Amino acid sequence: MNIYDSDRMKDVLAPLGYGAVDEADDVDMVIVNTCHIREKAAEKLFSELGRYRQMKEARRENGQSTIIAVAGCVAQATGAEIINRAPFVDIVLGPQTYHRLPEMIARATRAGERNSPECSRENPGAGIMDIEFPEEPKFDHLPNITAKGFSAFQSVQEGCDKFCTFCVVPYTRGSEFSRSVRDVLAEAENLAAHGVREITLLGQNVNAYHGAPVTGDQEVGLGRLIRQVAEIDGIERIRYTTSHPVDMDEELISAHGDVAQLMPFLHLPVQSGSDRILSAMNRNHSTDDFRRLHDRLMTAQPKLKLSSDFIVGFPSESDADFEATMDLAREIGFIQAYSFKYSPRPGTPGATMSNCVPDEIMSERLSRLQDLLTSNQAGFNQSCLGESFTVLLDRKGRKEGQLAGRSPFMQPVHLQASAEYFGRIVQVRITDAFANSLTGSLDGEPASHDSQVSEQRISA
Ligand code: 5AD
Ligand code: SF4
Repeated sequence: MNIYDSDRMKDVLAPLGYGAVDEADDVDMVIVNTCHIREKAAEKLFSELGRYRQMKEARRENGQSTIIAVAGCVAQATGAEIINRAPFVDIVLGPQTYHRLPEMIARATRAGERNSPECSRENPGAGIMDIEFPEEPKFDHLPNITAKGFSAFQSVQEGCDKFCTFCVVPYTRGSEFSRSVRDVLAEAENLAAHGVREITLLGQNVNAYHGAPVTGDQEVGLGRLIRQVAEIDGIERIRYTTSHPVDMDEELISAHGDVAQLMPFLHLPVQSGSDRILSAMNRNHSTDDFRRLHDRLMTAQPKLKLSSDFIVGFPSESDADFEATMDLAREIGFIQAYSFKYSPRPGTPGATMSNCVPDEIMSERLSRLQDLLTSNQAGFNQSCLGESFTVLLDRKGRKEGQLAGRSPFMQPVHLQASAEYFGRIVQVRITDAFANSLTGSLDGEPASHDSQVSEQRISA
């Protein structure tokens, strides 16, 4: 979602003459787009800002001005603290207000002009802060997405009302909001018209999507939305992320069987394999619910593979709770997963829970879980040897003469292919499997339609 937000900020700023650069070492403006999900991510902000302060001062000595902005969820959660601790920051803005960047920049520029170099030895920032949750959603004010490739993110839902006890998202991103079907389809059509072939529908809790319909008054869920996006000419691959297990309804599950463009790969965070911990996390489902959901998904689409997120060391997690997580991870065989030590977040119920798990125990559990998850992933990658997959070739490969793209299961695939194949969906025979990627070679003619996985696929 942060990549999507950064791209949208670029779209908002392009008419003002700003463009993105690879290295922020001598630039007119820096926007640090932040994540507040775990403490480690949030901590990075102030060390980054120290670097930009030096740049701002060096540029000021050369008579150049620099705007420093902090965006994203850390800004949303700790706006005033940022300005206090880093007074050289000009703009602090939340994830719901970046469409207003042009006016914030105009104000920051005016403030900068008032502070002549002589009188601003401390180089104060403009101190502009906009961390509101506006009544009117930002989407009504954003320009069209600039399609820059063949695969695009499209935000359809934001915010979350689930209040998992470890999570800051409901506080930083606000309550659930779904864009209307009309908006989503118009944007997807525009993307397709600009060459996009793969769309990833995004939302903090994307499968809670409930958008206003084009006609009638019955809200549309994600399953139906996917079916409508699939009808758009040119959209050959659809993905969605991130989902909550309790919001996987029948229409969405059956879409995995019915919609050829829907990739057979689903990121479905489970967080823990212990019912007691799931309940303390307020996840609102049990491990058996998750197992049943997995079965229903596999019945709808036998080729489907899952990835997941795990948290180890949530307050009061016992050895037995952790072993239950290991058992579930083994049983479901997630082909990819992110796992984290629990990080108490200010303002969440988890932060005031007692029975904290000591850091050494968390580290030990995390390392055991990661070994298991890595070996599941490696095992799946190995099982792909000799298989033939569709791959959307949307980037250069590692080596000279290579192109690369993603398999239906999101694995990076590298292969020798001439530039004429760039942007095409091709059939690739897998010849080598690594821990995090695959290599292969072109297998026959480019696939005219990305019909998921070839029929020969043997299940892993
Ligand atoms: N501590 C550790 N991990 C967390 N996540 C969210 N909040 C926390 C936290 N406080 C993880 C969850 C979520 C992913 C995006 O980040 O696993 O699914
Ligand atoms: Fe956070 Fe996801 Fe839970 Fe919402 S559903 S509170 S985003 S972990």
